[in-house]
Amino acid sequence: MQVTLRIRRFNPEKDQKPYWADYTLDNVEPTDRVLELLHRVKWEQDGTLSFRRSCAHGVCGSDGMRINGMNRLACKVLVNTLGEGDALTIQIEPLLGLRVIKDLIVDMEPFFEHYRSVMPYFVNDDPPPEDGRERLQSPEDRERFDDTTKCILCACCTTSCPSFWANQDYLGPAAIVQAHRFIFDSRDHAAEERLKILAETDGVWRCRTIYNCTMACPREIEVTRAIGEVKLAIARGSVE
Ligand code: SF4
Ligand code: F3S
Ligand code: FES
Repeated sequence: MQVTLRIRRFNPEKDQKPYWADYTLDNVEPTDRVLELLHRVKWEQDGTLSFRRSCAHGVCGSDGMRINGMNRLACKVLVNTLGEGDALTIQIEPLLGLRVIKDLIVDMEPFFEHYRSVMPYFVNDDPPPEDGRERLQSPEDRERFDDTTKCILCACCTTSCPSFWANQDYLGPAAIVQAHRFIFDSRDHAAEERLKILAETDGVWRCRTIYNCTMACPREIEVTRAIGEVKLAIARGSVE
């Protein structure tokens, strides 16, 4: 089949403003992934096209972009999920809400600043068990945060959230998911501190339960549910 990639391009060193550029590819297989098509454009037609990618297997989270209006990982989207027929056009843009550095590459620093602000690490100053083993936890306690351990920090959720588009000081769903992973870990001792951070003006209450984040998550994390659990813990003053 023939596929035209319609790509939003911008090079701040020479362009006054972003523009759309079309690249037509022949002999595309319906089971090709969008990332493969971007590689074909870069390697066969225009080497200046810029985008991030690394693992090509949905693990590193580096190739988040808007594909036909939805935030997706280019390496996880098959052409046949975007349409049928002998000729297809696929529209590709950078993630919204973050400054475009070049083409599909956005400045992730504000995103990671929010991530760092929620203490996304294990806190427990008690000495480890004397037998040298790990800190044990019941399967039920582990289950409470199992879903949020799957986050790969791709930013697809935060950059699909209208609350974040309106106010980039909002910590955003990804940072809340990362906080959730530690807040509900029975071995961690900093839940109270994290809940305090998330209760501030630009924390969880900026979430209006719009659900775009859940729809966008390539790891199928129930993002809105996790945010709801954090809201409830703040309201109750407890993670129990
Ligand atoms: Fe990506 Fe999902 Fe993590 Fe958001 S919650 S950063 S969409 S993996
Ligand atoms: Fe935004 Fe998701 Fe809340 S889209 S408003 S963070 S439910
Ligand atoms: Fe690593 Fe897509 S390239 S997630």
